[in-house]
Amino acid sequence: MEYENTKSHSSERPVIYDNHGRPITYLRLAVTDRCNLRCFYCMPEEGVKYLAKSKVLSYEEMLRIVRVLSELGIRKVRITGGEPFVRNNIIHLMKEITELEGIEELNITTNGILTGKYIREMKEMGVKSINLSLDTLDKQRFFEITRRDEFDIVYKTLFQLIEAGFSVKVNAVVMDGKNTDDLIPLTELARHHPVSIRFIEEMPFNGEGSHYPTLHWNAKRIVETLRHQYPDLYKLEDEKNSTSYNYHIPGFKGNVGVIAAFTRSFCGTCNRIRMTAQGELKTCLYDDGVLSIRDLLRAGISDEELKTTFLNIFQKRAKDGFEAEARRSSSVTESMTTIGG
Ligand code: 5AD
Ligand code: SF4
Repeated sequence: MEYENTKSHSSERPVIYDNHGRPITYLRLAVTDRCNLRCFYCMPEEGVKYLAKSKVLSYEEMLRIVRVLSELGIRKVRITGGEPFVRNNIIHLMKEITELEGIEELNITTNGILTGKYIREMKEMGVKSINLSLDTLDKQRFFEITRRDEFDIVYKTLFQLIEAGFSVKVNAVVMDGKNTDDLIPLTELARHHPVSIRFIEEMPFNGEGSHYPTLHWNAKRIVETLRHQYPDLYKLEDEKNSTSYNYHIPGFKGNVGVIAAFTRSFCGTCNRIRMTAQGELKTCLYDDGVLSIRDLLRAGISDEELKTTFLNIFQKRAKDGFEAEARRSSSVTESMTTIGG
């Protein structure tokens, strides 16, 4: 099958390029909007109103979407949420995705509460990389940030994942006045363990809107703080489509990085699209959803029509997160749990 804007690739499958010349190869699939934590940067304390089950994509619908996208050149899928493991039998969907032709990599982002018991199955299906959300190593602070007393299990799971041989990345959102004292203790994890610590700029995706008039802890300040503590910290060469800027400290087993999620300095190489749990396609984290794929599926669209629809949308992508935000009909306030991290 030949499509416009496609180029053949060594593995026969097409690669689709967007209107800014960026290949689209990576899907982030939110499998639920539900979560067993209430992180400060993601939701208000009382939580957010969850979707009715009928509005959430079924596993059949998700699998169909991933299959169609794989035929258009998506190679890599990351399962996100909400918290993926709160959805029943999610491990089964993960396995089915890994069995799709064309999908070369399946990764998972999780908060680590329910994750431990799926380690063996994730290994068996070939999951390589797991992102664990952990913003502090202090039990009390963990409770203040997540509003749940689950530190011990998450901390234990972190080491189980490392031991099982996954490439583990710890995601820590840096919040002014909340966990900036954790920058160094979290980085110290990488001294003795092969783990990548990534500090993320806080974005206003928390169900309420911006927590601060300006972002005080941006990636630059985070790196300066690290450099002050570790003067011999040096920059690593980043992978092609990486959203993180990564550093190494001599003598450390792991690495440390920053993700300029708010400053948005990495959009030029963005190869990713997102599906929310309710089947909304997003071609940028900062857009407010470009199309309901769920509605098309439920109205009986064919695979071929679905492909054409995706291809058309990929030709209208915003060039960066600022343009996507400017095109929105409402300001950025929705919770990350509805978007998918
Ligand atoms: N700002 C930055 N990162 C966020 N995440 C969730 N909400 C926000 C936010 N408002 C990140 C968390 C988690 C991933 C799913 O998304 O670090 O690891
Ligand atoms: Fe749950 Fe992740 Fe949101 Fe925390 S950030 S409440 S773990 S979805």
